[in-house]
Amino acid sequence: QDTRIQRIASSIRVVPDFPKKGIMFQDITTLLLEPKAFKDTVDLFVEQYTGRGISVVAGVEARGFIFGPPIALAIGAKFVPLRKPRKLPGEVISENYILEYGSDCLEMHVGAVQPGERALVVDDLIATGGTLCAAISLLERAGAEVLECACVIELPELKGRGRLNGKPLYVLVESH
Ligand code: PRP
Ligand code: MG
Repeated sequence: QDTRIQRIASSIRVVPDFPKKGIMFQDITTLLLEPKAFKDTVDLFVEQYTGRGISVVAGVEARGFIFGPPIALAIGAKFVPLRKPRKLPGEVISENYILEYGSDCLEMHVGAVQPGERALVVDDLIATGGTLCAAISLLERAGAEVLECACVIELPELKGRGRLNGKPLYVLVESH
């Protein structure tokens, strides 16, 4: 387990001052270049979520679309994309959220999730927690029960975990 976590952690490139000064960007594209690290990442999530009765894996655009689908396939759940505005063609529900500068919005197709379904939310990273908070709201508005959120990386200093209304958060790597 520790060797796997270490391989994942060391495969993530940290880029200082991107996209702007003062931000230490956590670049998961270098993790994707290492098949072992990518597989370890998916395997650890699959081990965590197999047998939990999860029928929905919801992934947040864009980087949640990389990690969510392989987890969904492995645990036999459906995959539901939570998209940035005006990308989904059907009827949607929307949830606005605050970013460090400005705001953004996530949308989900009406009917993608049925009331009572058990959901897992997947993204690459939690920073302020605003994105995951919006994702949880969308699923709960559709009547789903959000069991947990899963991210590859957490930036604990930003205290995003505290914004998830008590939902458990499972992360593989903490970045300080
Ligand atoms: C990044 C990251 C998370 C979110 C975390 O996505 O992939 O989704 O920010 O930040 P938060 O916890 O403060 O809400 P971003 O919106 O930059 O877009 P992308 O995934 O499309 O690259
Ligand atoms: Mg994102």
